[in-house]
Amino acid sequence: MLENDHTLNDLTLKANDGSFKTNDRFLKALAHQKLDRTPIWIMRQAGRYLPEYRELRNKVKDFLTLCKTPELATRVTLQPVQRFPLDAAIVFSDILTIPDALGLGLHFVENEGPQFRRPLRTAKDIEQLPKIDPETELRYVMDTIRMTKHELSTRLPLIGFAGSPWTLATYMVEGKGSKQFNEIKRLLYCEPALLHQLLSHLTQATIDYLNAQIAAGVDALMIFDTWGGLLSQTHYFSYSLNYMQKIIQALLLKQPHKKIPIILFTKNGGLHLDEMAETGCDAIGLDWLADLQHARQRVGHRVALQGNLDPATLYANQPTIRSEVANVLRAYGKGSGHIFNLGHGIPPDVHPDKVGFLIEAIHELSPAYHSL
Ligand code: CP3
Repeated sequence: MLENDHTLNDLTLKANDGSFKTNDRFLKALAHQKLDRTPIWIMRQAGRYLPEYRELRNKVKDFLTLCKTPELATRVTLQPVQRFPLDAAIVFSDILTIPDALGLGLHFVENEGPQFRRPLRTAKDIEQLPKIDPETELRYVMDTIRMTKHELSTRLPLIGFAGSPWTLATYMVEGKGSKQFNEIKRLLYCEPALLHQLLSHLTQATIDYLNAQIAAGVDALMIFDTWGGLLSQTHYFSYSLNYMQKIIQALLLKQPHKKIPIILFTKNGGLHLDEMAETGCDAIGLDWLADLQHARQRVGHRVALQGNLDPATLYANQPTIRSEVANVLRAYGKGSGHIFNLGHGIPPDVHPDKVGFLIEAIHELSPAYHSL
């Protein structure tokens, strides 16, 4: 039986009246199980392109206040899944919560992105990083997960996440976003042992953080390696992938019974698909530079694939969006194991109706690729 997307979309229906349906397409696709159509969610689906997000955001001091107030973060998490028939929700938070909990003084400067008041500048800064307890310093994230799970019940799966140790380190060492990444590269070439020490510390913090997210109730996890693509092949393996693999292996050891699937996303990581597929992850997220057909041939049945429409497609008119969606679906081809997504976050100036149209196009075009 096909599910009725309207009831799924309507979170005002009380879960305890028994009238809601469980939408597990996203989890089924991760497990390569048969489906009626391709599931979709969107990176940064809760964000500035939504007027209801901007309205709530304008009522509070800043973005971090939204993240750190579980009632509000829960509302924002639910906004996109209340408006659109998406197949998963993602916890509203940020990858930089860990560096913030480590005491670096995170703040967001309007139109400039994240900055740290106390970036890592000396060996001592790195050696003295504290150990964090996710249920203390990051309790607000766990509370958001618990509240959101309560609201969603089993209607939709909830994705938890963290940044890769390498990506967190780039922000912590640079002190903010960067174009050149000279500081972290300087550390890599001049003091590699110190960088490894930092990455090991972040790896342990991330393992604890993600285990706490699992305990709080997330249904899947995603690791965002936004800056892994800056590294040469060998450096990618030793400074980025190696630590993501340690995280995945540690998570797998802790959950012998209930397996929480893990998606690995290295932006610009298309060259490393074989090695990524060997980490023990369940899926690889692809940016739009990767060719989905080629990627599928490379990874075979080892992992599912997520992606990879160019986010800028959403500036186009409906026929263009539709034909680009058709191209992505055709590139993956028949069968389960594909989760539709953009190749990176949705731009803040996209009209929300474009998202509605994108989802309609997937609903219309993807059943032809499935046999249920
Ligand atoms: O996807 C979702 O809807 C969940 C929420 C989420 C956010 N950030 C919310 C956010 C997730 C998964 C992230 C991950 C994240 N954060 C990454 C990895 C993914 C990626 O985009 O590559 C990175 C590198 C960050 C760090 C970060 N946070 C930057 C560089 C910025 C500024 C750029 C921007 O878009 O403004 C943020 C802010 C941020 N994180 C916003 C949101 C909704 C915008 C905040 C606002 O101004 O309201």
